Amino acid sequence: MCGIIGYIGNSDATPVLIDGLKKLEYRGYDSSGVGVIDSTKDRIIVRKSSGKISNLENLIRTKPVGKSSIGISHTRWATHGAPTTVNAHPHLDGSGKIVIVHNGIIENYETLKTALKKQGHTFKSDTDTEIVSHLIEKYYKGNLRAAVGRAVRDLEGAFALGVISTHEPDKLIAARIGSPLIIGLGKKENFIASDVPAILDKTRKIIYLKDGEMAEITKDKVDVFNFAGKKVNAKVHTITFNIDAVKKQGYPHFMMKEMHEQADVIQKMIKARIGKTGIALDGIGLTQKQLSSFKKIIILACGTAYHAGMVGKYVIEKLAKIPVSVDAASEFRYRDPIVDRKTLVIAISQSGETADTLAGVREAKRRGARVITICNVVGSSIVRESDGVLYTHAGPEISVASTKAYTAQIAMLYLLAFKLAGPAKKEIKKLISEFKKVPALYKDILKNKAEIARVAKKNSHFGCFLFLGRNVNYPSALEGALKLKEISYIPAEGYAAGEMKHGPIALIDEYRAVVCVAVKSDVYEKMISNIQEIRARKGKIIAIATKGDKEIDKHVNYVIHVPKTSDLLTPLVVALPLQLFAYYVAVKLGCDVDQPRNLAKSVTVE
Ligand code: F6R
Repeated sequence: MCGIIGYIGNSDATPVLIDGLKKLEYRGYDSSGVGVIDSTKDRIIVRKSSGKISNLENLIRTKPVGKSSIGISHTRWATHGAPTTVNAHPHLDGSGKIVIVHNGIIENYETLKTALKKQGHTFKSDTDTEIVSHLIEKYYKGNLRAAVGRAVRDLEGAFALGVISTHEPDKLIAARIGSPLIIGLGKKENFIASDVPAILDKTRKIIYLKDGEMAEITKDKVDVFNFAGKKVNAKVHTITFNIDAVKKQGYPHFMMKEMHEQADVIQKMIKARIGKTGIALDGIGLTQKQLSSFKKIIILACGTAYHAGMVGKYVIEKLAKIPVSVDAASEFRYRDPIVDRKTLVIAISQSGETADTLAGVREAKRRGARVITICNVVGSSIVRESDGVLYTHAGPEISVASTKAYTAQIAMLYLLAFKLAGPAKKEIKKLISEFKKVPALYKDILKNKAEIARVAKKNSHFGCFLFLGRNVNYPSALEGALKLKEISYIPAEGYAAGEMKHGPIALIDEYRAVVCVAVKSDVYEKMISNIQEIRARKGKIIAIATKGDKEIDKHVNYVIHVPKTSDLLTPLVVALPLQLFAYYVAVKLGCDVDQPRNLAKSVTVE
């Protein structure tokens, strides 16, 4: 949520900043800006624009900022204040000598703003961020790092900050609590950024700034301190993933590329986690005995990850017979949950930075639970606060709509369920061998994508969709609906098919389309009955059905076939055609697939 990049070195800062911003645009894209210190070292030049980064680029083309060796920049997902140019970052202080970018929310900004106004400060924007530049101005007594260190002590909430000043024009200051910030170490140049992809083509040597830490960065040196000013030994990590992972590699959208990557992601997981002697889930730091000693499991997650958690509930309860509840993380912490030392809490998060999930993890730990996280981003905040981690290693997910992270999360939950149930059992062994076939099934589905595109295009005119599924595919219906609504903006609701008669059926007429997950399973006949009910009311039906099922053709308008697998594994298989369906509808409607309006990739505000 919001992306930051900062640069100090011998190159011209602005192109580096713009290039990095483009790679962070998935974090927010309602306005953007750069602030650089010009070559006289006496003047800060700021350019800001509402809308996408291309608007900022155009602005800089018509109003160049000149050469500079130090700068900060920002792409915004608005929280406080509309997405206007004046509210875009960077924000200057009153003197025009200090400029900052910020990711996060300053919760006590109103109180601070009122106090600063009384002291004579005037503000231009409606943002919470602007007060930070004024606080630094207030505390500046000849040492920029000390002024930032003092200012952050007044702040409540979450922040990652980048600060530069003409007072000390050869220094970049960074600080963080609660919002991610990394430092990239180059040769005679250094960087700050919200995420690795922004600087991956410049350096692979990274310091992950921790909560409560700040850094003083020059082109030759990086020093990390805690907020009390004590020097900290920061670990330098080497990023190993390939730079191609953050490029489209010829695909029209990141979403399409990431849907294609799902077979490889699951294949790698199988190779790494399923051995001759069992399922390797080392990162959780629990023995099989400890794992089996939990009396219940609570899954915490948001959005798509929440839907993955719901699949996990069906699978773990069925195979391991442990009660599982799934909480939207944003609800969990406020509902006085019953959690104790016999509870295993599993947080699921692609980014590992989602504020609601992080708050849920903290609450669960406070109540004595053991917390493990299923996460994609190595070293992220949620991982750091958990007792154990299962990395999905799906590679960077750039498209705002989650695809490969979702199937990787589900796959990891299957592995956990196999482990809890005892992988040596005959029934589990059979499932494991079916599970190993999933990557090949994805390849089959992708061969059929032209047909899915045809069905999607034929139905893209509908103004409203229902998605129905039963049992383990009820979450699939929820996720199918979420994918469609977030990238095409068509209202879409997911329901347990049996619930349709309790309300949603009122929606059905010839102007509604209903996507039914009707793969062969124990509940197939029930699903067919629901399909009949829709047909009787003239709704248009698109079925996701098992290859070879001829029966279904009689009842529905369109069929998208998926290969056969075990009933319990079907959510993994139906996920891909549902993603493709949403994708092709959105493309047909001319929507911005990778960057849907109002959304951001990692939601670091509550
Ligand atoms: C939807 C989507 C979101 C995320 C949610 C949680 O496609 O991506 O619903 O799933 O914001 O994000 P993470 O998994 O990063 O915690």
